[in-house]
Amino acid sequence: METKKYIIKTYGCQMNEHDSERMSYMLHNLNYIETDKYDDADLIIYNTCIIRENAELKVYGHVGAMKALKEKNPNLIIAVCGCMMQIDEAREVIRDKFKHVDIVFGTKNLSSLPYLLNQYLTYNERVIDVEDVDDIDELQKAIRKDKHSAYINIIYGCDNFCSYCIVPYTRGRESSRSESSILKEITQLGEEGYKEITLLGQNVNSYGKNLHPCTNFPSLLTNISKIDSIERIRFMTSHPKDLSDELIEIMKNTEKICKHIHLPLQSGSTRILKEMNRKYTAEQYLEKIVKLREAIPDIAITTDLIIGFPGETDEDFNDTMNMIEKVRFDQAFMFKYSRRIGTTAAKMNNQVDKDITSERFQKLLDRVNDICYEKNSEYLNTVQKVLVEGTSKNDTSTLTGRTDTNRIVHFKGQESYIGEIVNVKITDYNSFALEGELIE
Ligand code: SAH
Ligand code: SF4
Ligand code: F3S
Repeated sequence: METKKYIIKTYGCQMNEHDSERMSYMLHNLNYIETDKYDDADLIIYNTCIIRENAELKVYGHVGAMKALKEKNPNLIIAVCGCMMQIDEAREVIRDKFKHVDIVFGTKNLSSLPYLLNQYLTYNERVIDVEDVDDIDELQKAIRKDKHSAYINIIYGCDNFCSYCIVPYTRGRESSRSESSILKEITQLGEEGYKEITLLGQNVNSYGKNLHPCTNFPSLLTNISKIDSIERIRFMTSHPKDLSDELIEIMKNTEKICKHIHLPLQSGSTRILKEMNRKYTAEQYLEKIVKLREAIPDIAITTDLIIGFPGETDEDFNDTMNMIEKVRFDQAFMFKYSRRIGTTAAKMNNQVDKDITSERFQKLLDRVNDICYEKNSEYLNTVQKVLVEGTSKNDTSTLTGRTDTNRIVHFKGQESYIGEIVNVKITDYNSFALEGELIE
């Protein structure tokens, strides 16, 4: 069979990245190999995200630009999949205005890719299919980008319906993958030499609720930690409302679970949190932080924050500023509120002026970066265990890796260390990363 070439362009979160890794596996089985040259490609897949408007606009821009390439090479197949294709309005834009797109599929029929490709090649007609057909318990084979650290799906969808968020509409209802299927996949990854795994879900803390017999996230973590070859366990994302004392205990008592939790706060104003339908108050969030730090004093806590949610006043924004002083996050991802079609917040008529949002955003960003800088200074002269992930992009004699607490560390060393956990003495830092020296 003739070898063909593919490109998968991925937007959005780790879940999409992992879906792309799974598509790579399917394509390799069909005798496709990866290329990075668009002129060479026989198939280009856009795995899309619609979380904020800028993510959506980027996709329209990039897919639109392929029209010329398709005219030059009519045999080129262009496919669009992922979260955007689950939303009727976005799918209709692709269908009606991007006639050069040949195949459209969604987040719930990823495994149909070989079938849809074949259908297109047989009939030479556009294929648009977003039907829900995937069996989430199937062994999820993937060609992973990283050879030492792997993503694993444990729970799909989301039932939380935060008022600003489109994910419950793109990924559907919450559904947990069976423990046996997860453990089987991780055991296999361990045998292949993977040292670190990251468990993925929109809300990993509610893992197991729909399973029979019912189980929970702490129990899953305990069972995963018994797999000898896996040395580090990470997970994301945790919803603050479901962060249990039991989970904190397991994190404290299980060496393999990394000392890092990503716990999106979104806003420091209890009033706004209520409007966001987050189901916790600022005080309750702080209580969880205190508990986490009491149990695990050196834990890294990272977060997500939204600025300019409808109705956000100066006072609400000040509550967020005060909250970051109280928590002192190790890292924070900040987003300007983006109005998403179909969500409850999109219908709120008190949208915040763009200039005010930008001003608040900059103020928050400056302060968050200062705090990150101060927090990173605490690492100076300490020795950290670093899982070496690869070489630096612009300098192959520099290695990069991560600490248990998810800090990026750069240091000089040979490529043979890639995949190993090594000791590094921290010698310098900035707001975003640490620098160090390898200790043999
Ligand atoms: N399930 C995860 C988050 C998934 S989306 C959780 O609950 O934390 C990642 C982040 O994008 C969110 O935490 C939020 O901060 C941001 N986000 C989601 N919808 C947004 C919107 N409409 N505008 C701006 N930021 C948004
Ligand atoms: Fe979106 Fe909220 Fe679900 Fe996270 S928990 S995916 S923010 S609805
Ligand atoms: Fe992720 Fe974007 Fe979908 S953040 S779940 S890829 S909408």
